[in-house]
Amino acid sequence: MSKGTYYLTTPIYYPSAKLHIGHTYTTVASDALARFKRFTGYDVQFLTGTDEHGEKIQKAAEAKGMSPKAYVDEIVRDIKEIWKSMDISYDIFIRTTDEQHVKAVQGIFQKLYDKGDIYKSEYEGWYCTPCESFWTETQLKEGKLCPDCSRPAELAKEEAYFFRLSKYQDRLIQYFEEHPEICLPESRKNEMINNFLKPGLEDLAVSRTSFNWGIPVPFDPKHVIYVWIDALSNYITALGYGSDNREKYEKYWPANVHIMAKEIIRFHTIIWPAMLMALDEPLPKMVYGHGWIMFGDDKMSKSKGNIVYPEPLIERYGLDALKYFLLREFTFGYDGTYTNRTFVSRLNADLSNDLGNLVSRSITMIEKYNNGIIPEGKMAGEFDENLKEIAVAAAAKVEEAIDKLQFHQALEEIWKVIRRVNKYIDETTPWILAKEEANKERLNTVLYNLADSIRIVSVLLKPFMEATTSKIWVQLGISDDQSTKWEDASIFGKIPAGIKVERGEVLFPRLDIEKEVEELEKVNTAYFQKINGIKVEEEVVKIEPKEEITIDDFDKTELRVAKVVEAEKHPKADKLLVLQLQVGSETRQVVSGIAEHYKPEDLVGKSVILVANLKPVKLRGVESQGMILAAATDKKLVVATVDGDIPAGTLIS
Ligand code: ME8
Ligand code: MG
Repeated sequence: MSKGTYYLTTPIYYPSAKLHIGHTYTTVASDALARFKRFTGYDVQFLTGTDEHGEKIQKAAEAKGMSPKAYVDEIVRDIKEIWKSMDISYDIFIRTTDEQHVKAVQGIFQKLYDKGDIYKSEYEGWYCTPCESFWTETQLKEGKLCPDCSRPAELAKEEAYFFRLSKYQDRLIQYFEEHPEICLPESRKNEMINNFLKPGLEDLAVSRTSFNWGIPVPFDPKHVIYVWIDALSNYITALGYGSDNREKYEKYWPANVHIMAKEIIRFHTIIWPAMLMALDEPLPKMVYGHGWIMFGDDKMSKSKGNIVYPEPLIERYGLDALKYFLLREFTFGYDGTYTNRTFVSRLNADLSNDLGNLVSRSITMIEKYNNGIIPEGKMAGEFDENLKEIAVAAAAKVEEAIDKLQFHQALEEIWKVIRRVNKYIDETTPWILAKEEANKERLNTVLYNLADSIRIVSVLLKPFMEATTSKIWVQLGISDDQSTKWEDASIFGKIPAGIKVERGEVLFPRLDIEKEVEELEKVNTAYFQKINGIKVEEEVVKIEPKEEITIDDFDKTELRVAKVVEAEKHPKADKLLVLQLQVGSETRQVVSGIAEHYKPEDLVGKSVILVANLKPVKLRGVESQGMILAAATDKKLVVATVDGDIPAGTLIS
């Protein structure tokens, strides 16, 4: 049974540069909200997309010798790839170059013109090209700089169409008073009222003639409709407004929430509502402007070289780790600072120590003390009631926090449960109970309570860390229709006794913070340089010569071509691979410390160089008959191979 519809949106991003963790932040938060609403029974539409017109994009395309459309097509493809790799569950991806959007925007412009809310005049003002914003003299910073980006604005004058924004001032003020959620958080609403609405709204230039990459004004095509009427309309054109198929519009509009960062809140809480008033359409129920992710004291920027991208973080720590960090570390609504150290520390404390540890200790104990079977819990004892109380109370608190878009708070509520369960283990000391047969019933109850608490945690986590939830279910031996609905998170005792748990890989490996911070600096810098076309300096290898030898010394070494026929991970050591090598007619097994640099399957088929007369040794319990040669610096390792086709076993000299 659906609880009703829920329509939420991210901004439509400019496809002018590669998206970074700022964009990721908004999108991950919106995705968590969308998943949460679906999971708790709503019929959700989640919209994201790209804002593709404008002078900035036209210039960027020209600089690359491309047509604007070809240029944006390429970037949009990349953006969709990113969202796919991040498992972003959007329902609609709108592009402002979509034919339907273009038509609908022209219809909107015409309608406002016919109504007298758009008129032709001449515009003179201070224009900031990167921000595509006109500013009045008083709005400029230090008399000449764009108040948003601090770059110099230029005086510009041109014929333009204007939207009669001033006409809506009183209605907007009244609307703000009656609908506090039109602008959240609270502090931003006061800023809008005091800095913009009360001093008086000026009419807004909504067309341009100085470039042509935009939607033409239908009745005066030397003008293109510029920026906000084009961009903001996406929230309704994406639902079919202005087309023959308005079904989604009727069903989902008005939006439950538009999510964005604070720099565009003014457009969304003043211009957009005024446009909707002019169109006689309902206003969005909530507009939420979150804070900025800063880097040190700075905004992220290409020139400062401090942009952080999601890809290397995901590659190294997994998607759920990045999602968790973004949602938990920053207080939604306020600015926050990214550092590699806060990132690594957060993962280690919350994911490895609290969550990862809880799951692995509990599953291990069920395996050790009850052959991996979740026992029945028939003997209540001290601490049980408090544990259950806290576990079943969390769902309502999470829901309350999410309804206020307080993602960090929602996760904190889940972590209160996780920490409570960890404490329960320390309080009930199952390893001591296990020593006396007389305590078996109590031990079983403790184990049962652990399993069911983890079930509750996994259900609570599902909208935020889907992959982790699935991994926990595999370890618990439950599938996704067994006591794993949202409602089941507020009921204790739903996991069936008798099912078999299965210890799996560690959910979040423990990190050596110092080493990891150092590594992450390198990884992020290298990725920034790669994306922005900055050449990474070649590593210069320092030569430390070894003692001189004779040809006879060298001749003692039997080097042979060997073909890798099988490769697999060492059962006990993460850094080692176990290789089966074909050498002439025999097969040799060699253990090699290259697992951090090669996947087993990538080695199969390679012709490598084997030191064939090395005395066999056992490496972590596995016999190694010789070794293979590789070249290694501090950062890299490549296996030495022979160039060309020659039989395996051939002597190298
Ligand atoms: O403004 N911290 O697009 P845009 C947090 N096309 N969020 C950040 C961020 C940061 N450092 N950097 C970017 C536009 N964002 C218009 C929007 S909507 C009808 C038109 C996020 O590509 C944040 O959501 O500049 C911000 O509002 C948005 O990206 C700006 O994206
Ligand atoms: Mg911007």
